[in-house]
Amino acid sequence: MKGVTHMFKTKYDYLLKKVNDVLSTLITEKESPENTIYKAMNYSLMAGGKRLRPVLLLAVSEMLEIDFEEVMPYACALEMIHTYSLIHDDLPAMDNDDYRRGMLTNHKVFGEATAILAGDALLNYAYEYILDWLMDESKKKTYSLAAGVKAMSYIAKAAGINGMIGGQIVDIESEDKEITVELLEYIHKHKTGALIKASVMVPAILTSLDDEKRNALERYSSNIGLAFQVKDDILDAEGDFKLLGKTTGKDASSGKSTFVSMYGIEKSREILSELISDAVDSLQLFGDKAIFLKELAVYIAERKN
Ligand code: IPE
Ligand code: IPE
Ligand code: MG
Ligand code: MG
Ligand code: MG
Repeated sequence: MKGVTHMFKTKYDYLLKKVNDVLSTLITEKESPENTIYKAMNYSLMAGGKRLRPVLLLAVSEMLEIDFEEVMPYACALEMIHTYSLIHDDLPAMDNDDYRRGMLTNHKVFGEATAILAGDALLNYAYEYILDWLMDESKKKTYSLAAGVKAMSYIAKAAGINGMIGGQIVDIESEDKEITVELLEYIHKHKTGALIKASVMVPAILTSLDDEKRNALERYSSNIGLAFQVKDDILDAEGDFKLLGKTTGKDASSGKSTFVSMYGIEKSREILSELISDAVDSLQLFGDKAIFLKELAVYIAERKN
């Protein structure tokens, strides 16, 4: 990672490992008639991936001084929802991709019917997991049940028709079409930005953060959410399959509307760097506590995968 410090990388890897340690225990394969669904869920969930959303959630939680163990179910739920969105995004009926996270896509290994069900199951399990946690009185929670439910509602909306699904439908409908800049932003802010924003806002909701700080985190997360997809578009155009773990050049060959198709690579890079600067600026009021999150914004622009 050029441009980010060794300290950033060490901390990112530490948070990523914390998430993976829990994720790896969630879906246990067992000798039962439905065993195939566990295998298919775990295949994609444990295939690697940057774990950006849970890492973000943990990093914001740390900044707001709420213990990791209290927010881990939300972090894992976001990763499960994200993984489901990737399994379905790759289906032949959608982007029709053969590789994901450096491995064959779920439907290539398990078939389309199982891949659809594995996606559905991950989405459903995400909420089962949060609800079980919220209802379990033996688990330490410094936030109220109402705040816990509010945070879950924020995630549900971010994943739903006014969030990720809303973006995905417009993305699919816009293939092979000229669309406006406004609609392109709509696609990106919804299909990708919404879940990234939720990752940042969940700890803010759980700690009932004051308006000024909450607005700052909203500005930060809106910027990095859009930036993340602008960079994804750039990587599709000029990234390396070996590093990315997914096929490149697909956006152009499927007539997708992207920042690269709309503005070209150079202008897309400029837009990206403006989004990152604004993200970094928005965290000023958190002072030194926001160092990692500021570097994370820079990492989003400079990542190679
Ligand atoms: C890929 O997401 C799909 C987009 C929303 C752009 P990531 O780039 O976060 O994928 P993983 O989780 O690291 O595999
Ligand atoms: C995906 O956008 C957004 C999702 C909600 C999965 P892309 O279709 O560009 O993501 P990749 O490039 O396949 O990872
Ligand atoms: Mg897609
Ligand atoms: Mg895709
Ligand atoms: Mg893409």
